[in-house]
Amino acid sequence: MAILSVHNLNKTYAGGFQALKNINLEIRKGEIFALLGPNGAGKTTLINAICGIIKPSSGQILVDGFDIIKDFRATRSLIGLVPQELTTDAFETVWNTVNFSRGIFGKTPDHAYVERIIKQLSLWDKRNGKIMTLSGGMKRRVMIAKALSHEPRILFLDEPTAGVDVSLRKDMWEQVRQLKDNGVTIILTTHYLDEAEQMAERIGVINNGEIIITENKNELMKKLGRKTLVLDLKHPVGQVPASLGPWNLVLSPDRAQLTYTYVSTHADNGIAELLAGLSAAGIGIKDIHTDQSSLEEIFIQLVKPS
Ligand SMILES: Nc1ncnc2c1ncn2[C@@H]1O[C@H](COP(=O)(O)OP(=O)(O)OP(=O)(O)O)[C@@H](O)[C@H]1O
Ligand SMILES: [Mg+2]
Repeated sequence: MAILSVHNLNKTYAGGFQALKNINLEIRKGEIFALLGPNGAGKTTLINAICGIIKPSSGQILVDGFDIIKDFRATRSLIGLVPQELTTDAFETVWNTVNFSRGIFGKTPDHAYVERIIKQLSLWDKRNGKIMTLSGGMKRRVMIAKALSHEPRILFLDEPTAGVDVSLRKDMWEQVRQLKDNGVTIILTTHYLDEAEQMAERIGVINNGEIIITENKNELMKKLGRKTLVLDLKHPVGQVPASLGPWNLVLSPDRAQLTYTYVSTHADNGIAELLAGLSAAGIGIKDIHTDQSSLEEIFIQLVKPS
């Protein structure tokens, strides 16, 4: 059952620029969906159209069956939005901001609920602090608490981890999974394939205002999420030993580097056996690193005729 359906959506800004081109998208109840695309692709425009912040030029958007224009109040109360640009009242406390935000949506006060989300976002010990005294990552979590204050069924996170450090990023991913466990449908945007891979069940790729592909994560990663493992050898080798044939290794021209290509989502990616095989063949390794297809490489693969 779709909780969000977008039909033939177009958006041309006042200056004449067409930011969205005939977008069609269905989001299932309870899923985590990542919208992946480079700067200027149209991610924020699409989210803003769904949330009623900008007006579509044509097309239809239904949230839980309600039309976002005709039934604006109903759809808006089903939606929580964490915008890309952080906007909060710097002088207000965390506790007041989140409770106030709930009130804006006409919900009766529920301190127990607000306490729960503030705790879940690890902000409880900051609840009486003014927003201006928080770090950037904490402010972003306050924005999430605000967006959840009125118990929305769909949460939009527009680049939730922009400016968030690596360890907090992991916490954020974990929190998003918890929200999903509470039954919230989540749509997030990101520039990073690895982030989409970590967080989402389904991924849509948007470029130049067009959705190029929507696919289950595992399928997409199978198609596009190839990784390469590069092994710098202690000593050059004459050739790849026959025992390592199954890995289809590529030997560099200087014979001092081996490259193995694998699908990143396969649990059984063959790396452990490869390393054991190298050791058994007496090949010493000096250094090791991995590379993942970049967004640019993915676009090239997606648009090239097959
Ligand atoms: N108010 C506006 N008026 C005119 N053009 C706009 C406006 N807002 C956005 N655009 C243009 O629409 C295109 C899509 O912008 P949008 O903000 O949706 O991209 P995005 O995918 O969110 O990018 P980013 O990853 O940088 O956040 C861009 O070319 C942008 O310049
Ligand atoms: Mg954006």
